[in-house]
Amino acid sequence: MSHSMYDFGMIGLGVMGRNFLLNVADNGFSALGLDLDQDKVNALSEEAEHRTIGGTTSMKEFVAQLKAPRKIMMLVPAGKAVDSVIGQLLEYVDIGDLIIDGGNSHFEDTNRRIKELAGKGLHFMGVGVSGGAEGARRGPSIMPGGDREAYQIVAPVLEAVSAKVKGEPCVDYMGATSAGHYVKMVHNGIEYGLMQLIAEVYDILRRIAKLPNDQIGEIFEEWNQKELRSFLIEITAAIFSQPDEEGNGDLIDKILDKAKQKGTGKWTSQSALDLGIPIPTIDSAVSMRGLSAQKVIRLKAAETFPDDNFELAGIDTNVLVKHLRETLYFAFVVTYAQGYAQLAEASEEFGYNLDMERIAKIWRGGCIIRADLLEDIRRAFQEEEVPNLLLADAFQAEINRTHNSARQILKLSLDYGIPTMCLSSALNYFDALRTGRLPLNLVQAQRDFFGSHTYERIDKGGIFHTEWGK
Ligand code: 6PG
Repeated sequence: MSHSMYDFGMIGLGVMGRNFLLNVADNGFSALGLDLDQDKVNALSEEAEHRTIGGTTSMKEFVAQLKAPRKIMMLVPAGKAVDSVIGQLLEYVDIGDLIIDGGNSHFEDTNRRIKELAGKGLHFMGVGVSGGAEGARRGPSIMPGGDREAYQIVAPVLEAVSAKVKGEPCVDYMGATSAGHYVKMVHNGIEYGLMQLIAEVYDILRRIAKLPNDQIGEIFEEWNQKELRSFLIEITAAIFSQPDEEGNGDLIDKILDKAKQKGTGKWTSQSALDLGIPIPTIDSAVSMRGLSAQKVIRLKAAETFPDDNFELAGIDTNVLVKHLRETLYFAFVVTYAQGYAQLAEASEEFGYNLDMERIAKIWRGGCIIRADLLEDIRRAFQEEEVPNLLLADAFQAEINRTHNSARQILKLSLDYGIPTMCLSSALNYFDALRTGRLPLNLVQAQRDFFGSHTYERIDKGGIFHTEWGK
């Protein structure tokens, strides 16, 4: 449909960009798409139907047809493509226009771009968008960061297109500079953690309980009715009933056990290390993706150190499944707690001024880590300010109820030699957190011994050094 001036522009008409734009148009805004690939522009026109949607392959035409101040969003691969699009836009845009990067850009790139464009009188926002293709089309969770003033320009569009939970939009201003992209990065770190935890539970159901896929699917289906209800558990249940259309049996059994990654989980771990905030469950999930990729080495090691076929008699499947369910709940809470601890430190360090309750609010719907649990997390942050989510009143009883199940499960998986890097790191994180006196007094003594790095004492203030062994 031809139209003189459009409310909103989208650069990049891949499945995410096209779906987001259709969603914008469904909500009564006129929307214009740009892609260098004419086929993608044609695909958009075909889907436009009654909506006020236009498409072009020309940057000049695209910018000329947008209402001022222009609201231009790009959904292109992170990295060079973002800088290249910005470079092309700069020829045509005017002072006061708003450019939004809706991709998974590294937060430091976003800071650089904000600075560069502010110098030219342009607004630039780094906006996290989660929910995959379906989310973009029907309502994603949106994490906008940058100028508050710039956010006001685009807030009506983002609020309209976002997912809604109990009538509340799953979008809210996160904070200044790269706050939006930082929050999205940690969202993805948590996503990595939850996915790996579910995978480890699947391995135990498969190799210890020896359950077939349909029963594993039913268990996840049942878990999705109560405290574990979440998007990731829901899709996991569905995965187990998918037949293999290329042959016999279930598709899950035909999928190569090498998981790829685009980098956001790794960035979460890297930034947490820089901040000095431990997030071992997320780190372990990143490590497991790396180990999964080393298939050739793993096959060699499997030959070198064959499974000793450990079998324990008399395992009661119902009891095992109950413990697994409690373990998974416990480990989910621990993973969110690690992500939130990182966000709190990043907020201080980078001046984001993040509001943890608001983050929980917008993660309740639309995004990959959406879960009923986030309603409880939101309430916990509403009620009190805690240095770690695990200390919130709202979670104490549940954590006390479930952490011993994690011990039962881990004892079993260690005996069977089943790798449970994420599950065990969740329990170890919890145990370390609740250990009043860790053995790190010894580490301090060692540091002082070999490097005169000094130590503090428990019985008096000051800094001490000992000439050890003399
Ligand atoms: C989302 C997802 C998405 C991410 C994929 C793949 O929130 O919609 O996080 O942004 O790209 O999950 O990530 P990996 O390729 O790193 O697994």
